[in-house]
Amino acid sequence: MDPLSCAIETAQAAGALLLERVGKPLELREKSSRGDLVTASDRASEALIVARLLAAFPRAAILGEESGKHAGESDERWIVDPLDGTTNYAHGYPLYCVSIAYERAGELLAGVVYAPALRELYAAARGAGATCNDRPIAVTDAGSVAESLVCTGFKPAEFDRNGKYFERLSRVAQGVRRDGAAALDLAFVAAGRFDAFWEFDLAPWDIAAGALIVREAGGTVTAIDGGPLDLTRGSTLATNGHVHAEMRVILSGAP
Ligand code: IPD
Ligand code: CA
Ligand code: CA
Repeated sequence: MDPLSCAIETAQAAGALLLERVGKPLELREKSSRGDLVTASDRASEALIVARLLAAFPRAAILGEESGKHAGESDERWIVDPLDGTTNYAHGYPLYCVSIAYERAGELLAGVVYAPALRELYAAARGAGATCNDRPIAVTDAGSVAESLVCTGFKPAEFDRNGKYFERLSRVAQGVRRDGAAALDLAFVAAGRFDAFWEFDLAPWDIAAGALIVREAGGTVTAIDGGPLDLTRGSTLATNGHVHAEMRVILSGAP
């Protein structure tokens, strides 16, 4: 099976599992900081995803949020967030998703973001464009932040770091949203719902699939200071390309 088809089928199965578990005991726990939640659904989704990926690609490495690093025997790697937007999921707010990316020799080649409660599956393969439910998607052509709807994210315990920039953008943009699922926020930039998205401190599994989907939809993804996107650093600015420079100026001085 090719990596994109494998990622799609796996994300669909994990998304179905997440939906089936709605209403069952969450076994909610806080991880490293206030509001950093994990539930039994995160763990069950990751177990399903890891088992399927290893069955189809036994030599590939996997980096999963809940189970960490699985060493591989090839230059292939899957990067997995089994449930992005756990807080939304725990509260029945439908913006949550499964995110699966495929990398070879350090290069992102396929990415899938599946939001089961929205019935939206975003997918991209390097050089082949991006789709939502098999239809091509593209970023907007908004030329200024003043005509943009922008989105950000931050961990509750880290609001102070982003508050100033949230305020700055609120004074310039048409609107600022904080939807609580970074991978889906990126997919929404790709689909033209948002013109820009920024977050300081994401993990590789939050960014990998969504970044490829934005790029394949014609957008730009860099670190907030304009440097190359580094999955391990987590600083992320994704835009339609046209408002990238202006967003960088507004976010200048950001940590
Ligand atoms: C979180 C969400 C949130 C973002 C956090 C992430 P999780 O992921 O993507 O929007 O602001 O930085 O950690 O914990 O729901 O997988
Ligand atoms: Ca996440
Ligand atoms: Ca997660």
